[in-house]
Amino acid sequence: MYAIIPIYRVKKEITIPGDKSISHRALLISSLARGKTKIINFLDSQDTLATLECLRKLNVEIKYIKGRSQVEVNSRGPLFKISKRVKLNAYESGTTIRLLSGILVAQRFSSLLDAKGSLRKRPMMRITYPLRLMGGKIKGKTEGKEEYPPLEIDSTDFLSGIEYKLPQASAQVKSAIIFASLFCRGRTKIVEPQCSRDHTERMLKLFGAKLKKVSNSITIEKSKLVSPGKIFIPSDISSASFFIALGLLLKDSEILIRNVGLNHTRVGFLDVLKRMGANIKIFNRKNYFEPYGDVLVKSSQLKGVEVEEKEIPLMIDELPILMVCASFAKGKTIIKGLRELKVKETDRLSSMVYNLKKAGVDIKATPYKKKNWKVEVGGKRKTNSVKFRSFSDHRTAMSLVIFGMASQESFYLDDVTCIDKSFPEFTFIINSLYR
Ligand code: S3P
Repeated sequence: MYAIIPIYRVKKEITIPGDKSISHRALLISSLARGKTKIINFLDSQDTLATLECLRKLNVEIKYIKGRSQVEVNSRGPLFKISKRVKLNAYESGTTIRLLSGILVAQRFSSLLDAKGSLRKRPMMRITYPLRLMGGKIKGKTEGKEEYPPLEIDSTDFLSGIEYKLPQASAQVKSAIIFASLFCRGRTKIVEPQCSRDHTERMLKLFGAKLKKVSNSITIEKSKLVSPGKIFIPSDISSASFFIALGLLLKDSEILIRNVGLNHTRVGFLDVLKRMGANIKIFNRKNYFEPYGDVLVKSSQLKGVEVEEKEIPLMIDELPILMVCASFAKGKTIIKGLRELKVKETDRLSSMVYNLKKAGVDIKATPYKKKNWKVEVGGKRKTNSVKFRSFSDHRTAMSLVIFGMASQESFYLDDVTCIDKSFPEFTFIINSLYR
């Protein structure tokens, strides 16, 4: 049991580790580009290490020393040197299983891509279906109309480009198709209903891929990737979001975080907070292939707002912490378009509603058109000291820690080990704030 201790005031500069999504992509894309790539500010976490271990099993040479935040990938080209069927495990990392599938369907050997824990229950047809349309031989475990891990992947003679309209905005699905397209005969065109994070597109362009993007539509052709030699990964805005929230919610406080990734497809949370009246300043903007800069937040009285469906993909991982911010705001916040939140590591909509309700927050989730969901968070809050449940979900756990710290009572959380999935330094940084 983890005791969440209230904190009254923070004035600190903190450092947040590298971006998780970009770290996965840096490993995968460097593995496809012959030669060496040095990755600086790599995120050392369970999920990113799952990708690293899979690539090592695929005979990619990777130099990694725990705690150094630096990795060197030495690739022998896009076709991995494997002669027999290989068994891989993505553990609980959705990004690993979905992105790697797009690469494995194009290889000259068969593979079994397995998963553990919650990932074994997450839907995979969103990637197996388009990859099969391209000619990929990939199949998950079928249950009803859905497919789940493990994924069986067989080698195929060739893949063909497709035109594909994504049923949901998803960077993981988009990236799996993009990776397979690098090996395809003919051009692939992908159209997303809304724009999701575009890290794959940006990094592939840096590596010289033939990729074009016009608003929500991407075209890509078979490409030979060339490494730039070195990549710097900005700090993860999703991990930073917990401390951004804390700085805003506490009285007489300010938190400065340097070199935070500010890609426009990831800053939806900051935009919504500004609408809520948050005092957030961004300076020292840098225009690298991924933009980044310094973020300074100061105590703010937030007010309730409405968040539209189209904004959701730009803040998909920040929705639990946004619900926490909304519970401290004056007036009601309505967040629409939460369907995808229910198929993350856990059903984050239900787990946040369960916990915040238990803590006395006026919060209600309701279904609406086309199997979608919305949540209403009232501004009035009566806190009771309670035991929270993380449901073994890292983002739920971190959101609840921030809620507890910013409330003026002690709370407990059943488990914080799940946080290692994306942010092993979280509790260490939290402890440093009390000193
Ligand atoms: C990710 C995409 C998002 C996000 C996940 C990381 C990525 O998932 O929630 O944490 O790195 O591509 P979806 O593609 O399922 O929206």
